[in-house]
Amino acid sequence: MCGIVGYTGLDAVEPILLQGLEKLEYRGYDSAGVGLLRGNSIEVTRASGKLSNLASKFENENSEPGTGIGHTRWATHGAPTSENAHPHQDPSGRVAIVHNGIVENWKELRAKFATGEFSSDTDSEVLAHMIAALLAQGESLVSAVRRTLNEAAGAFSLVILDSSQPDVLIAARKGNAGGLVVGLADDGTYVASDMSALLTYTRKFFFLEPGEIATLKPSSVTIYSEEGREVTRQPYQATHDLTEVGKGQYPHYMMKEIYEQSDVLVSSLQGRYNGLSNTIDLSTEFEGSAISKDRIQGITRCLLVGMGTSMHACMVGRHYLERFGGIPTEVDNAAEFRYRRPLLDSNTLVISVTQSGETVDTLAAMDEAKRADCLQITICNTPGAQSTRLADLSLLLGAGAEISVASTKTLLASIMALHAVSLFLGKARETLTSEIEAEQVVNALQLPSAVSTVLGNSEKLFEVARKYAASEHFLFLGRGLGYPVALEGALKLKEVSYIHAEGYSAGEMKHGPIALVNDAMPTVAVCTRGDVHEKMLSNVEQIKARGGRVISLVTDGDDSFDKLADDCITLPDVDPALGPIPSIVALQLLAYGIARERGLDIDQPRNLAKTVTVE
Ligand code: M6R
Repeated sequence: MCGIVGYTGLDAVEPILLQGLEKLEYRGYDSAGVGLLRGNSIEVTRASGKLSNLASKFENENSEPGTGIGHTRWATHGAPTSENAHPHQDPSGRVAIVHNGIVENWKELRAKFATGEFSSDTDSEVLAHMIAALLAQGESLVSAVRRTLNEAAGAFSLVILDSSQPDVLIAARKGNAGGLVVGLADDGTYVASDMSALLTYTRKFFFLEPGEIATLKPSSVTIYSEEGREVTRQPYQATHDLTEVGKGQYPHYMMKEIYEQSDVLVSSLQGRYNGLSNTIDLSTEFEGSAISKDRIQGITRCLLVGMGTSMHACMVGRHYLERFGGIPTEVDNAAEFRYRRPLLDSNTLVISVTQSGETVDTLAAMDEAKRADCLQITICNTPGAQSTRLADLSLLLGAGAEISVASTKTLLASIMALHAVSLFLGKARETLTSEIEAEQVVNALQLPSAVSTVLGNSEKLFEVARKYAASEHFLFLGRGLGYPVALEGALKLKEVSYIHAEGYSAGEMKHGPIALVNDAMPTVAVCTRGDVHEKMLSNVEQIKARGGRVISLVTDGDDSFDKLADDCITLPDVDPALGPIPSIVALQLLAYGIARERGLDIDQPRNLAKTVTVE
């Protein structure tokens, strides 16, 4: 979603802003703009569409040192036009702002604070009017921003330029809608939505917390708390590198990331699964955290929260937490969780799964859990992200940057992190036998090669993709661990191919969805080895009896679907508890193959953003 970059210092500002925005492109956007302080006025340049449209407007410009802000916009209020792109200014042009998030009461604020005509349809523009109006009343810039934060309802991040203070940038956060990180370097001071935009320039960062306001000058930063007190904070020293990710030999990032999954599994297992002793060990990760052995013994229930693909990881993880961890576990869609007044206490373990660590709904759920003093673990792919700062313990995925909007490799890594944590908790609570521990470790260690086998069979999946690419509707069915796999298969297909796809528990089928079945709505059925194999067989029979076409995912050596299904996709035989891993990879390839047949923008599907920072 929206990306923010700002700089004040001795280096040429416009390349810093454009390069920073380029690094934030992965978040998803549909227009972009920059605001540069030139003398005592602010020059705003904006363009709809790709960043290259904006960059081309600077081709013959001389870059100068100074102060500026940049923004990539993911439209919420108003179409993705250049008029609605940020920065927005007040009519006098004194103030310019870039904004990420939503101002919920923007209409009321427009009535109260308008300093002239509005030139966009956005909720954001009014913030520039408000700040300018308060400055005109004699307020200081910081106090004008503070009042603006207080009056504006919602959650957002904001960076502000005031043309009468050319060496100053103000950065502010309200609630949890997209982070802001301030970077310090010898040449100047930076601010951005996340570290990836700034790692080229510095490794020394301050994260702004909700409610905080920072004043950035070329050689200093002052942070004020929500109450207006100056905050002293140790800088965070980033140790990870900005991996320059390219597509390599692959036509799309999605394909590259699907093909990386065997290696991702190896890194997920390394250091946690010991193949010599056949044991699991996360003690170094737990050591020194608030989740001590005593607290682990006292856990009475576990709640798994996440959104989209990460929520599907949670649904798989629930099986592991109950079966191996011995803990009653529920899964919650993070966006629903906060609005249903959940009953929580300090013996509840909340595990959030979020590849970005910045998903607004997941962060809001974590805030709710924090208020109830729950123990919190976050499973995240982004070092330093907001979720890692909220949780008592972070299990980092180490899956490398995931650029494709459709999540693939981080799902597999999240599932393995949940598997590992379940085994570790079961062991610590003495509910897991060493036989089951050893069996799970041995079986997990076979997964990288199982995934390689699925990848090696991708041509078969692409053949099936070609056969069904013209279908406009799909049904995905699974039971037990196959149910989240079916949901993920449907989500992946609709995201990248824009085909209407529904994921259901196969047991639910007769309660309504079966009415949809005909030969124009193929069903993908997850029928791999496990407790519900026979049930899936009869569900497939029922679909065939109604003229439906079926693509079955089956375990190597199982011929029971040969005569029944229209197409069988054979997957390596793994422990049924780990069955989601090869099945998910197969469904990723199917979705990718169909989208490729349809010639779509696979890595950046329409309307979607990689990091979802608004509700
Ligand atoms: O960064 P997160 O894991 O918190 O993101 C959650 C969802 O927005 C994300 O999984 C989304 O559903 C993906 N586009 C799925 O491919």
